[in-house]
Amino acid sequence: MLRVVVLISGGGTNLQAIIDAVRNGRIQNTEIAEVISSGPEAYGLVRAAKAGVLAVTISPKAFETRKAFEKALLDELNRVNPDLIVLAGYLVKIPMDVVREYERRIINIHPSLIPSFCGKGFYGLKVHEAALARGVKITGATVHYVDEELDAGPILKQKAVEVPEGITAEELQRKVMEEAEWVILPEAIAELARKENKE
Ligand code: GRF
Repeated sequence: MLRVVVLISGGGTNLQAIIDAVRNGRIQNTEIAEVISSGPEAYGLVRAAKAGVLAVTISPKAFETRKAFEKALLDELNRVNPDLIVLAGYLVKIPMDVVREYERRIINIHPSLIPSFCGKGFYGLKVHEAALARGVKITGATVHYVDEELDAGPILKQKAVEVPEGITAEELQRKVMEEAEWVILPEAIAELARKENKE
């Protein structure tokens, strides 16, 4: 059984895609052991509650120092002891201690075809605004391992999405989520669960 912890910061539509895929069998031998949100307002917490998934908030704002936040996050992860950590719209920098302790066990979904439109400052809508500004005809999403560099770990999966003439950044964000993110993130987890099951 692959024990997964999902880290969120916002709407949680990628979390929802994982929850749905576990429920409908597209992801097998997997349990979402916990959802950790970086803030109490994340709608992803509502999605977790509706799905009966344990969820906690560990917010940087709730700690005196960044170091205290990072220790609290690592302690909670070690308490749950997941096989896989999934960053699903998680907007806080992952502490290096977590990256080192869970090396090759953390994956992230990024809303572009890495190495385009990634790295510092490229998150959320900004990614799609940059893609439109460049005039690309194809964009997409990437699932990659998280390492010490931002958006630079080994690529696990990618899916391309056409960019129609005149589409807005908000419409493109939704299109990339629907046609790519919500497809390849569950697929990546399903593949890792199959591997885990064979070991
Ligand atoms: C998504 O576009 C995802 O690619 C990015 O953050 C956004 C938030 O998505 N990492 P979600 O609805 O919170 O999963």
